[in-house]
Amino acid sequence: MSMPLPVTRKLDFSEIPVVDIGPLGEADTKRIPAVAAEIARACQDVGFMYVKNHGVSATVLRNLRREAEAFFSLPSTEKMKVAVEISPQYRGYLPLEYTGEEGEEGRNLQEGFIMMPDRPVGTLPLHGPNQWPEKVPGLKPAMMAYFVEVEKLARLMLPGFTVGVGLPADYFRDAFRDPEMMILKLNHYPPQKAMNDAYMLGVGGHTDFSAFTILWQDDLGGLEVLNKSGEWVAVPPIEDTFVINIGDLMQVWTNGRFSSTEHRVINRYGKDRNSIAFFVDPVYPTKVEPLVDRSGSYEPVVSGDHIYAQFRRIYPQRQR
Ligand code: OGA
Ligand code: NI
Repeated sequence: MSMPLPVTRKLDFSEIPVVDIGPLGEADTKRIPAVAAEIARACQDVGFMYVKNHGVSATVLRNLRREAEAFFSLPSTEKMKVAVEISPQYRGYLPLEYTGEEGEEGRNLQEGFIMMPDRPVGTLPLHGPNQWPEKVPGLKPAMMAYFVEVEKLARLMLPGFTVGVGLPADYFRDAFRDPEMMILKLNHYPPQKAMNDAYMLGVGGHTDFSAFTILWQDDLGGLEVLNKSGEWVAVPPIEDTFVINIGDLMQVWTNGRFSSTEHRVINRYGKDRNSIAFFVDPVYPTKVEPLVDRSGSYEPVVSGDHIYAQFRRIYPQRQR
């Protein structure tokens, strides 16, 4: 089935705010409330922001870009040796055209690679080992190093979210004490083939099931977010920034004050696009329920159960 590819009207880029988060890392905490207020405004009005002065090492990022490219360039048979579908913990390679968000027929024009912290297989689902490609030995150390860097950025952001809604700066310390449920995912998007196939976009419209997401994108473009008036707004690359967006869990915590905003990727540019997503999640047993304006319509969810359910919905598993 086929329908015309949706058109994006490019709105003023300033609609996606750029926040200088440098002050969040200062020993002197007096500038935190002002930054938190800026973050809160972005999370309410857009659900997306760019952050600059993020502290992530450029060398570590460069290494991961190189290794990711080497991995995605492998022959499919090599990549399928570490396929997600053979990992009960959903680690490893996602081949092109895995389940999309548009129902039965939707497929993603994207391949991916997922890792999470290595944990012994135990009673909690998703705890387990990663899979690594033999042919690209540099991928594992590059992903591990990047994970450390981007996890630091995630922790830096936490007071930015809580202070802005009137909670203490360290409110989330316990919920995010361990990265066990944090997910690092490499994405590779080939150019959109048929410009008339809305059933196979890079990624169809979706919200993230994380608390929040830290995204690096290359210089091509293609990420679009649905604004409050129902228009798709481009999120063009800005050098030396990351895109940070609110996910479903933070939306529940803030009782909808922060928006888990729908977004998609369409690679309209005739060249390969790469991105690196880091999904920031609290520890498995965290009960997530509204912390502010408590009279809400959000049911409490156990964070890990919510994430596991989404994995099962989206990612392939070989019948066993
Ligand atoms: C995602 C996502 C955007 C991108 O992985 O959830 O929305 O630019 N990625 O790759
Ligand atoms: Ni997303």
